[in-house]
Amino acid sequence: MSDLKIGILISGRGSNMASIIEACERGEISAQVACVISNKADAKGLEFAKAHNIPAIVIPHKNYEDRQSFEEVIDKVLTEHNVQLVCLAGFMRLLTAWFTERWTDRIVNIHPSLLPSFKGTKTHKEALEYGAKITGCTVHFLRAEMDHGPIIVQKAVPILEGDTEETLGQRVLQEEHKAYVEALKMIADNRVNIIDERVFITQAL
Ligand code: GAR
Repeated sequence: MSDLKIGILISGRGSNMASIIEACERGEISAQVACVISNKADAKGLEFAKAHNIPAIVIPHKNYEDRQSFEEVIDKVLTEHNVQLVCLAGFMRLLTAWFTERWTDRIVNIHPSLLPSFKGTKTHKEALEYGAKITGCTVHFLRAEMDHGPIIVQKAVPILEGDTEETLGQRVLQEEHKAYVEALKMIADNRVNIIDERVFITQAL
């Protein structure tokens, strides 16, 4: 089976990116990370990618006058690296319909809540303030609407008394790393099908 070529978009720490790279290196996901792109030059994840001999490219969004011209450069770099699947891993820029439609069914995102609850960037704060008892993470195909699209994997995390955004965020992050690898493994094995905007998983052989 030929390996799927993945491009990962990050903006910061890159811990999800690192777990994907490591799972590819172990052969757990039948894929290869062809490039990592960051919109921030100081994103910590860039160093990890370089240390693993993966091209790590900075495309600062501030250099472009609008979203689409920024995305056109991302699209060009992804294409140059023969990327087949784009993984958003803490990429904190909204993507336009131009990009999401160009890569339709080929962009995967991770979000630190059980979607459709708690979209946006203050996820853990909102879950705690709401008094939710369970939260978690979601890996999904991305549509033009923020944090929306067919769900591939979700993992639940209980909210404990005394949790802070940090303690909860840490426990959710551990599940994110597992969920993203699980989802990508199934995609790389061609087991993920989207029918009427819902994901159906074919059983493993
Ligand atoms: C992760 O918790 C990810 O789910 C979240 O940013 C963090 C990035 O961490 N993404 C979003 O909130 C997107 N809406 P990482 O850089 O260590 O992977």
